[in-house]
Amino acid sequence: MVVTDSPALGVIWHDLECGGYDADLPLWRELAGESAPGGASARVLDIGCGSGRVALDLARAGHLVTALDADGQLLAVLAERAGGMAVETVEADARDFSLQRQGYDLCLVPMQTLQLLRGPDERAALFTRARAHLRPGARLACAIVSDVDCFDSRAGGLGPSPERAKLGDALYLSRAVRVQRREHFIRIERERLVLPSGGAPPAPVEHDVVELEILTEAGLAQELRAAGLNPEPARTIGETYEHSGSEVILAHV
Ligand SMILES: C[S@@+](CC[C@H](N)C(=O)[O-])C[C@H]1O[C@@H](n2cnc3c(N)ncnc32)[C@H](O)[C@@H]1O
Repeated sequence: MVVTDSPALGVIWHDLECGGYDADLPLWRELAGESAPGGASARVLDIGCGSGRVALDLARAGHLVTALDADGQLLAVLAERAGGMAVETVEADARDFSLQRQGYDLCLVPMQTLQLLRGPDERAALFTRARAHLRPGARLACAIVSDVDCFDSRAGGLGPSPERAKLGDALYLSRAVRVQRREHFIRIERERLVLPSGGAPPAPVEHDVVELEILTEAGLAQELRAAGLNPEPARTIGETYEHSGSEVILAHV
């Protein structure tokens, strides 16, 4: 786990909870490679880029990446980590952005960011903005999760072991304690704990809840068509020991 020297707490939790996932990276690289004009570098728009897990990987592979997120602290860390690589950052809302640059070769929405939006209108806004920034024939690719292993460790079920990182004098622990599938949402609850060194008392446990809207390939295909995009068959990212598998919904302009 790579954590920079003294990032904000939100960045630490983001890195801890998202940064170690890499099962999707080969597919993003493949899609970027396919979309690069003449096999050279692709111009990629990464929506909901966080601290740059995907954006930095694609930049290392030689692609030119615009990394967009609503969280300025995550973007600041991403920019620092990018060093001299070809990554530009944009602080904007995925539902309402307008960039100077258009004609992207590929637009990615990795790691269930699409499921953080609420309802078809918010997704339509993202699809419409993405479409406006893609060149003819270019693709939009969005990862979604629909099949999760549910558990409740607070009710005695066995949950996953915590993700942990030592940073400075403190140990940061984040553990998923309950995953539930409800009618319209997958609800993921985590406990986050900071343990200072030297026997100082830990800060109170922080509870974090994320709800992912349950989406289907068929439902999204309709929404994509309505936004002027042409759906293609979805791709699959297999599950790993620690992470559920995902589907990657694809459509082109
Ligand atoms: C699950 S994280 C994924 C981070 C990164 N794409 C990855 O794969 O590691 C979701 C990201 O989407 C961003 N996000 C959520 N809603 C957003 C919105 N409406 N506009 C822009 N970014 C958003 C969050 O700030 C967060 O960085």
